[in-house]
Amino acid sequence: MLDLIFTTQNNLLNYLKKNQINQWALVPTMGAIHQGHLSLINSAYAEFSTVIISIFVNPTQFDDKKDLKFYPINYEKDIEMLNKHFKNILIYMPTVDDIYKNEVKSMTYDFGDLDKVMEGEFRMGHFNGVATVVELLLSALKPIKAYFGEKDFQQLQIIKSLVRQKQIDCEIVECPTIREENGLALSSRNQKLTQKEKKEASFLYKTMQLAKEMKQNKEQPKHIKEHIYTLYKDHEYISLEYFLITNQDTLLEATEFINSKKYRVFVAAKIGNTRLIDNLLL
Ligand code: PAF
Repeated sequence: MLDLIFTTQNNLLNYLKKNQINQWALVPTMGAIHQGHLSLINSAYAEFSTVIISIFVNPTQFDDKKDLKFYPINYEKDIEMLNKHFKNILIYMPTVDDIYKNEVKSMTYDFGDLDKVMEGEFRMGHFNGVATVVELLLSALKPIKAYFGEKDFQQLQIIKSLVRQKQIDCEIVECPTIREENGLALSSRNQKLTQKEKKEASFLYKTMQLAKEMKQNKEQPKHIKEHIYTLYKDHEYISLEYFLITNQDTLLEATEFINSKKYRVFVAAKIGNTRLIDNLLL
């Protein structure tokens, strides 16, 4: 299986050429592979016979170097898991040099309001880093389609905007969030949670569900938000960063619900040392 792991773009592209493969999909990841990633890969295999998964912990999207240092990395386990579930999957595990060549630096973009709120506000430069690595990956590997999870909904909107702005010839496919039975969204960062924290973390999903019910009961965004903030204030283990209800397209905070528009709730919170984010369509 080792010959299907590539550390350089050149070797990967040569392999595709040599085997006369001319269409493929890409699933970009930062490793710590879990069922959520497997579901993205399954969606890709439903449409393509060749799927590349990239595993690259992108340094430019971490504003907090401590966060980068503690990011869960276990390449051997990732490879084992991928080979267990998929035959002939192409794994691209580049070095920083193979992606960034000489300069490990983000490019700057204009995403309008999309990157000014939520993760953009709380993690400086994060989305420029994400957009840079995604642009580099898509331009180098030229997949027909690339698959991303709705779990990172803001990231997804930014990547769609990037592809439109730069006229990158690749379709972005959005895939649903996969959750534990208790509602906790699957994320690489969950590996850092203790059993107790995992149990407590289901609170994020419960509060988003509550927001949905309150909307169904005709409550307005301001009241929903105020109520949910009081619930977090009393929580022993969870420290809330934000809980916002936004218009799903603009990501701007909603002041009132209008029937013809779609809304989403977004939450970011810390539990122990682990920062989690999640979102739900209302
Ligand atoms: O969602 C992720 O895992 C990362 O942000 C991505 C899209 C692979 C870019 O590094």
